[in-house]
Amino acid sequence: MSWGSLIRLAGQDFFYPCNRIYQSMHQFQRTLVTTALPYANGPVHLGHLAGVYLPADIYVRYKRLKGEDVVHIGGSDEHGVPITITAEKEGISPQDVVDRYHNLNYDAFSKCGISFDYYGRTTSELHHKTAQEFFIEIEKKGIFTKKTEKLFFDRKADRFLSDRYVTGTCPICNNPEANGDQCEQCGTHLSPLELINPKSKLSDETPELRDTMHWYFPLGRFQAQLEEYVNSHEGDWRQNVVNYSRTWLKQGLNDRAITRDLSWGIKVPLNTVEAVGKVLYVWFDAVLGYISFTKEWAEKLGKGERWKDYWQDPQCRLVHFIGKDNVVFHTLMFPAILMAWNEGRTDDLYNLADNVPASEFMNFEGRKFSKSRNYAVYLGEFLEKFPADTLRYTIAMNYPENKDTDFSWQDYQNRTNGELADTLGNFIKRSVDFTNTRFDGEVPYECTSEDWNSLGINWQETLNQLDFAFEQFHFREAVSLGMDIARAANRFLTESEPWKAIKSDREAAAKSMAISLNFCHALSIVLYPVIPETSNRIHAMLGFEDTIEDHFNLGTSLTESLLLPVLKKGHRLKEKSEILFTKLEDADIAPELKKIEGLLAEAEKREAGIVQDRMEFKPVINFDDFLKVDLRVAKVIAAESVKKAGKLLKLQLQVGSVTKQVLAGIARYYTPEEMIGKNVVLVANLADRTIRDEVSEGMILAVEGADGKLFVIEPEGNEINGRQIQ
Ligand code: 2FM
Ligand code: ZN
Repeated sequence: MSWGSLIRLAGQDFFYPCNRIYQSMHQFQRTLVTTALPYANGPVHLGHLAGVYLPADIYVRYKRLKGEDVVHIGGSDEHGVPITITAEKEGISPQDVVDRYHNLNYDAFSKCGISFDYYGRTTSELHHKTAQEFFIEIEKKGIFTKKTEKLFFDRKADRFLSDRYVTGTCPICNNPEANGDQCEQCGTHLSPLELINPKSKLSDETPELRDTMHWYFPLGRFQAQLEEYVNSHEGDWRQNVVNYSRTWLKQGLNDRAITRDLSWGIKVPLNTVEAVGKVLYVWFDAVLGYISFTKEWAEKLGKGERWKDYWQDPQCRLVHFIGKDNVVFHTLMFPAILMAWNEGRTDDLYNLADNVPASEFMNFEGRKFSKSRNYAVYLGEFLEKFPADTLRYTIAMNYPENKDTDFSWQDYQNRTNGELADTLGNFIKRSVDFTNTRFDGEVPYECTSEDWNSLGINWQETLNQLDFAFEQFHFREAVSLGMDIARAANRFLTESEPWKAIKSDREAAAKSMAISLNFCHALSIVLYPVIPETSNRIHAMLGFEDTIEDHFNLGTSLTESLLLPVLKKGHRLKEKSEILFTKLEDADIAPELKKIEGLLAEAEKREAGIVQDRMEFKPVINFDDFLKVDLRVAKVIAAESVKKAGKLLKLQLQVGSVTKQVLAGIARYYTPEEMIGKNVVLVANLADRTIRDEVSEGMILAVEGADGKLFVIEPEGNEINGRQIQ
């Protein structure tokens, strides 16, 4: 198979939206790569790098090597409630928060060699304008619906409270510090109205319910088009991306509120009373950031209209790199917004994503990264101590393509010392040093294509495999292929023993060095997408004055660079070699391991419920207060799971002569069958609550075990059913 046909194979038949139909395309002239916009509310960690930014950068760099037209757009997501919460906590403005983290994250990415063509900010004027244009276009077409709903209002702070600003007791697990959108303890997604004893985070007051009107995006209106869109990518999108999107489609798409009562965000661009105090929902604005930032990139180039070549020309391939938690926003929500824009138009039509390579997660030392629990290694901090390429290499080798993977310090040390220092670095240095000392720093022999093809490597096949791996987002395979070449090169040098041959057969030694140096050159190219800084250092050691980027910008062909030996007889190397990778001693990673021990111990303690703050007892109550709680022994006589609420079991309890229905958040720990027949402790006089359209007439008591598992309290005794617990 030829190089050209392989590229086409990678680009199969693609479906592109024009105004009415999906158009089948065979080849793209250019590619727009976007990377999820991280919230400018904290530093990015290695998990973010592994899932989104490094794979995107590898892909983009590979395409640049091929001489393709590719643009990489990223930036900061600078709206959203967590940002205002941080600002309030720290007593600074939201702008201060986003300035801090935008700069911090951009610096960390730069140090890591993530080569954005543009890194924007959603607080920019042009972005506000773009998002507002979308809102107006969709509003004008009458696509939005408006609904009045009841929302908590904090009278003291004089404002509506979005979900995150309300806290209270989780109706499922009783965690007293559940958030209005989700309970961190049991993971249940909640609405603030479901919280028991809701409080405003701003004033600690009990908020009141008030009517408020919001704009809704009717995702359901685009159900059929979205189904067609997702179906058209069966086979070329990752299966998890298709499945996840389909799960949503199967449930039927609902209206989504796309405005909020907040002051921080993009104002709803209407001069009506209804629009006062409303901003666009952060996700509605964030995805449009990809477009605004491309416009800003084009403006910076001085070619204002150029962005259209990437968004509105069906010859451009659009690829979103994201983590798995962002799939539906990119496969359903954003495409639907673009469909709404495109509807009824004949010009300025937007392309939909051609691929959404969503990653699984990379864990850290066997546990999930958690920003809120500070269980993470932050990218900027990592790069203050260790070089970027060793990190890039280790992470690429553990790329979470279709299952969660792990970053461990031990693996990082092993790969740095073994694969990078011993195999790659050592080979390059030996080749350059020997040529410098024994052949006066010049390639001593004219390596022919026969020589190049007699090394046991089928270069054409290797090139095909590499192309397939990079183009199909199989980055572990791509980097492994590169390391296989380094191993073959090492073997070749060791076996041809030029240091012995030079004494008896100078020509044989010269040939062996010319081949080795050409291997160095091939490695600098093949590994460039993953370890660009190292590749450039190899490039320099080989005597090139330019950078690899310039080299390929000027039209050097990747194909020819690998299929033929590039370094000719007489080509001069740089006089001095360099050590490419410094080995990591145990002492270098010891402080990091110690830090992990501390973090792990914290996490374990937290899970065991023995951290200090958990031992702070609730305020004292008197005996009469206690007597108000009617605790009874009840027996589970029927149990079933609750549809659309994976964590809930619906239990029918016999309490003496009465039966009661209780919803309990224990489905992850008990099957309905296991529950039937159990004696449980029922809080029998709790006011009824409605959860997911089901009434719960009380709650049952349970205790959380060390691993987060809930154990139902099971009282024992004879004929105790219905009896009060005292
Ligand atoms: O999950 C996140 O961190 C979001 N800020 C990602 C946004 S991606 C895109 F929509 F901009
Ligand atoms: Zn909970």
